[in-house]
Amino acid sequence: MQQADKQMSRPGVLSAVLSIFNTSVGRKVITGLTGLGLVVFILGHLAGNLSLFIGAEAFNAYAHKLESLGPLLYVIEIGLLAVFVFHIVYAIAVTSQNKAARKAGYVQHGDAGKPSQKNLSSQTMIYTGLILAVFIVVHVVMFKFGPGMGSGYAYELHGEQVRDLHRLVVESFKNIWIVLGYCAVMLLMGVHIRHGFWSAFQSLGAYHPRYTRLIQSAGVLLAAALALGFFVLPIYIYLFVELPTV
Ligand code: HEM
Repeated sequence: MQQADKQMSRPGVLSAVLSIFNTSVGRKVITGLTGLGLVVFILGHLAGNLSLFIGAEAFNAYAHKLESLGPLLYVIEIGLLAVFVFHIVYAIAVTSQNKAARKAGYVQHGDAGKPSQKNLSSQTMIYTGLILAVFIVVHVVMFKFGPGMGSGYAYELHGEQVRDLHRLVVESFKNIWIVLGYCAVMLLMGVHIRHGFWSAFQSLGAYHPRYTRLIQSAGVLLAAALALGFFVLPIYIYLFVELPTV
């Protein structure tokens, strides 16, 4: 009898967990958590890309180190892709659920005790987010799946031939249109993260007045640091880095 109960309860627990994902609060929590996860990735990505300021050897060595993770890198990449997909799908669901509720007159702005954060940044989240999603696809095709050693992008690193990712990045950022496109997207990314960071903490229940200012300021600082870091790189390369001689 007890055995039967256990067997019955397993799918019950699973469906209870899944049904939390499907509540309006659950969707917001997932959007917030995955968004914060992406911010951690973007911080790490910026830290790695700062080696572009040092030069070809430092950047190619960094990229090669990542490559050398082998199967672990695939696991990380699949995890990252899953976080991106969950973030986008749940963010779209939250936006349409908010829209539907507003249409039906259920939601008033400045809702239920939480401080309202209605501004340009908050109202354009879905658009800045979708632009970022398109950017990431183009960006990954351009660099990750761009030309490799077989196409002559090879670099000798401590006696070993590795992919010359530095040359690919520098060649790309010698094109003014690519530089302008990147800079524009980086500004939008700053706007997205600024509100997203605040909103994620709200969804996780951190809207005590004592923390409001702190979270807002942290969001502004983080967004500015990330946007500026990624913004400066293409401009620096365009202006100051010489195209490598092949
Ligand atoms: C100046 C700005 C940027 C530069 C120079 C840059 C450079 C690169 C390079 C060279 C790669 C290929 C790495 C490899 O094949 O080992 C890459 C991959 C990637 N970048 Fe960026 N990136 C920039 C901004 C961004 C931003 C703002 C995001 C996200 C919002 C982003 C997301 C990604 C993702 C998701 C990958 C694929 C990671 C992987 O699968 O291993 N990048 N980036």
